[in-house]
Amino acid sequence: MGSLTVTLVFLYAVSAVLCTPFINQLQPGQEWPARSSVKQPYHQFDGTENEHKPEVAEPKTAASEVEKEVISDEPQAPLVETVERIDYSGAQVWKVSTEDVQVQRLIKKLATDKLIASWGGNHSSIDILIKPNALENVTAMFRNGDITYDIMIDDLQQRINEENPPLDENELELQDRRGHRMTWKQYHRLEDIHGFMDYLAKTYPSIISVNTIGKSYEGRELKILRISDGKAGNKAVFIDGGIHAREWISPAVVTYFINQFAENFDVESDDIKNIDWYFLPVVNPDGYEYTHRSDRLWRKNRKYGYGPSTCTGADLNRNFGYRWGGKGSSSYPCSDIYRGSGPFSEPETKAISEFFRNTAVKFSAYLTYHSYGQYLLYPWGYDNALPADHKDLDSVGKQMAEAIRKTGGSQYKVGSSSGLLYPAAGGSDDWAKSLGIKYTYTVELSDTGRYGFVLPASYIEPVARENLAGLRVLASQV
Ligand code: ARG
Ligand code: ZN
Repeated sequence: MGSLTVTLVFLYAVSAVLCTPFINQLQPGQEWPARSSVKQPYHQFDGTENEHKPEVAEPKTAASEVEKEVISDEPQAPLVETVERIDYSGAQVWKVSTEDVQVQRLIKKLATDKLIASWGGNHSSIDILIKPNALENVTAMFRNGDITYDIMIDDLQQRINEENPPLDENELELQDRRGHRMTWKQYHRLEDIHGFMDYLAKTYPSIISVNTIGKSYEGRELKILRISDGKAGNKAVFIDGGIHAREWISPAVVTYFINQFAENFDVESDDIKNIDWYFLPVVNPDGYEYTHRSDRLWRKNRKYGYGPSTCTGADLNRNFGYRWGGKGSSSYPCSDIYRGSGPFSEPETKAISEFFRNTAVKFSAYLTYHSYGQYLLYPWGYDNALPADHKDLDSVGKQMAEAIRKTGGSQYKVGSSSGLLYPAAGGSDDWAKSLGIKYTYTVELSDTGRYGFVLPASYIEPVARENLAGLRVLASQV
């Protein structure tokens, strides 16, 4: 146990060193268009990466303000930060129909009592995680209420153990020859993802550059990769992933897109070449690393010291500054949908907002990749309302869904996120739309609940491939 801690501290220190930028991140003549002559924050490196900066204490949330949101509550973070792995042995995931109000009430109560946690849902059903110690009671309550449910996962830890098997000998050998360690046969650590991005910038300097737009709370870089042939008439598209830590398929798919365009740019279609692509594959690097090291099911970022109970993290997809604080977000710091202390209170969302504020690029589309559920969602998310151009969004979304289905067979539902799922304010999509970016979508990748967040690595390639087909449709329409 002592040696585990020592090892992890050591690994952390090593990764801190390796995460330090080692290439010139801006190629000559590759300055990204800035809005004015004002120096942008990401042009400076202050050499303080990966230090845990003690933060000024956040204003404490008054007890009266503490609200219990409908059905989403995360187990409270431990008082002392540990690096031990959370074991989900015996935990189950059920899909439950919520058409009946009795069922809705029961689920709300169980969530409040922290016996279950929400994995997501829509207007008609919900996926819930049942904690092992609650399994017997919850099963009895469902039996007594004559409530039916499907057991999607009967031992969550087993699924976690099988999700990300090590690469075989062949793959390891290939990895060594490629100049980077990224594959799409495994979920990779942040270091591999960043190493891959730097490799591409170094290898294809005439079309690819990498920029750090800021740091996460724990000091990790927020790295954006741009692919552009620099033509004056190009449109611009921004794509991000990994806002939610546990949605591993998202950074995997976004890096797959990067790899496809980077390695085949010369032979790519004009639709692709006529766009300046900006990719931020891991918006929440601290959370992402935490899901690899410690709690596979962590969702939020890792900003520490929120609220009286010293809960950790805000939901970055409730922290964006358009209609911040509205429905489907919580002011309770222990909640999984905690919105943070104010709009853009989190360094990760703040960096994105600053990037958009400082850039002269006019983006035609913003895509943010999440999991799971298989949805193409457009604004608004904050409430049941539609933007004036919703017919355009719906039409392009349906064409994307059709391309996905034709390519890989997966069915994606298309609609507004409040209409199809539930209202949730403070999302990145609503904020992007509010900036005037026309084609703004949240893509909820596979699957529909068989594996949920713990989608085996063997699904990366098929999911990415069919979504690349969807992305090509978007590229043809912007
Ligand atoms: N599953 C995503 C979330 O809960 C959906 C976000 C959709 N967008 C929105 N603005 N509500 O964060
Ligand atoms: Zn998400």
